[in-house]
Amino acid sequence: MNRLKKRPIGIFDSGVGGLTVFREIERILPYEDIVYFGDTARVPYGNKSRETIVRFSMQNILFLLKKKVKIVVVACNTSSSLSLEYLKNIFRVPVIGVISPSVEKALLVSKTRKIGVIATRSTINSGTYEQEIIKKDKKVQVHSLACPLFVPLVEEGMFPGKILDGVIKFYLEAIKQKVDTLILGCTHYPLLKESLVSFLKGVLLIDSAEEVAVNAKAVLEQNNLSNNKLSPSKEFYVSDDPGNFLKMATLFLERKVSKPKVVNV
Ligand code: DGL
Repeated sequence: MNRLKKRPIGIFDSGVGGLTVFREIERILPYEDIVYFGDTARVPYGNKSRETIVRFSMQNILFLLKKKVKIVVVACNTSSSLSLEYLKNIFRVPVIGVISPSVEKALLVSKTRKIGVIATRSTINSGTYEQEIIKKDKKVQVHSLACPLFVPLVEEGMFPGKILDGVIKFYLEAIKQKVDTLILGCTHYPLLKESLVSFLKGVLLIDSAEEVAVNAKAVLEQNNLSNNKLSPSKEFYVSDDPGNFLKMATLFLERKVSKPKVVNV
């Protein structure tokens, strides 16, 4: 038996948002131990430079490697956009991110070949989603849009509701008629699905959290790394404010989780 199989899956995010990815991984891979690290001392990543995000992401992975993870899932879209290509090549464990799985799914389902991407400013400015799409199909028209107000609205628990509906209209009115598929390119956006679906009527939403979980399963299988533990452990680590993490975890997962340990990466 490959002893690496018994090792946990490592997930990191800039903070609490990656719990949407944690939730999908837990659902799709129910027999795996998981270690989650949220960089709550340095969140948000969504408006930081490439150099900073690469440095933070490296430190986050080095922390997860100390926990002996067998794969690293970069839950954060900003980090996946700005640092994944670099990170993939320097570590021995597989490092996967949210961009390619979401792009592949969008290309599979879009009929009009007009695809939208919504994300943080840094993700949109990086152009990574757009480049990934065009690399695979030059004929696709990509409409990218930064929606920086969505993250604080989710963290304030303002969904669904009138304020959120107004912000959705403000950002998405123009893109609504232009695309048939929209990639939710940020950890927090899956929580807005209900309101987005009712505003965007008929536009297919691609949930990057769901797609990366499917990809993680495939990568574990390809590398003969899948575990089959009956009561797998879930460990949470943060770089600051464990109390707020606990509160947010209840919002994101709709259940309580064990108190995260505070670590300095
Ligand atoms: N996790 C980030 C992302 O998915 C959103 C929050 C942040 O800006 O750090 O892009």
